[in-house]
Amino acid sequence: MTVKIAIANAKGGVAKTTTALSLSAAFAEEGKTMLAVDLDPHANLTISLGYKPTGLAPTIADVFLGDCQIQDAIYATEVELLSLIPSNHTLTMAENHLMVRDRYQLILSEALSNLNGFDIIMLDCPPTLGTLTQNALSAANILIIPAQPEYYSAHALRDMLNLILAIRPAQQSQAQVPNPSDDARYPQSHPPKSCKANSYRIQSGCIRNRDRNRHAPARKPTIWSTHSTICTRESSFPTIQSISQRIEEIHE
Ligand SMILES: Nc1ncnc2c1ncn2[C@@H]1O[C@H](COP(=O)(O)OP(=O)(O)OP(=O)(O)O)[C@@H](O)[C@H]1O
Ligand SMILES: [Mg+2]
Repeated sequence: MTVKIAIANAKGGVAKTTTALSLSAAFAEEGKTMLAVDLDPHANLTISLGYKPTGLAPTIADVFLGDCQIQDAIYATEVELLSLIPSNHTLTMAENHLMVRDRYQLILSEALSNLNGFDIIMLDCPPTLGTLTQNALSAANILIIPAQPEYYSAHALRDMLNLILAIRPAQQSQAQVPNPSDDARYPQSHPPKSCKANSYRIQSGCIRNRDRNRHAPARKPTIWSTHSTICTRESSFPTIQSISQRIEEIHE
């Protein structure tokens, strides 16, 4: 069974793409066959994995529009065992067309169900709660919500939770809510209580906020293959372990 992990938060700049990339590369290094899907028209994941988005075709936009088979939109990357379905600005136009289609929230889920040969599919969402994120939530077995322990983040998490409740029957969802910073400025930070008060299985984790990680995307081709990777790997480790555990449970 392929496990699908969505990385989502309506709040921008909270390390969704960094988490998607780091976890994908980490699981690939563990021998898992990985597919990373870029669901953001800004295409940061695509760029991180070595592709120039402008003019790239086919992309995930073509899959959403039904213009190509999902198998034909898969690209190899320089990371062994890690493949990519890229994105570019055409995804904005595709998203605008989606809502007129029947069962538009399930387009990605149905397309992914035609794919074989991947252990894990990682879905990097845009910083919105629109159609693309709704498709990711519909498809995923596990949801990771990177968030910063700040006042506005709590509001974004509440919006996220409302979307999850709208999209998923509770028994299908296995949510993972990392608390992404153990920054000394926020010693008491915990996921908001409202996120725990529901029937989803929720687990928190912590990613260190480090300057070296902030500059990691500048190191090509991927942060995983460079010196800066070491701290990313280190800080992702608890998350990787708890997700691996959850994947085992899903397989049981
Ligand atoms: N652990 C970390 N410590 C410090 N900086 C980090 C860490 N993780 C990510 N960053 C930096 O935070 C910035 C935002 O990260 P990223 O692009 O992954 O966020 P995002 O949620 O995908 O953003 P967007 O909503 O725009 O898609 C980047 O500059 C990234 O390098
Ligand atoms: Mg991003």
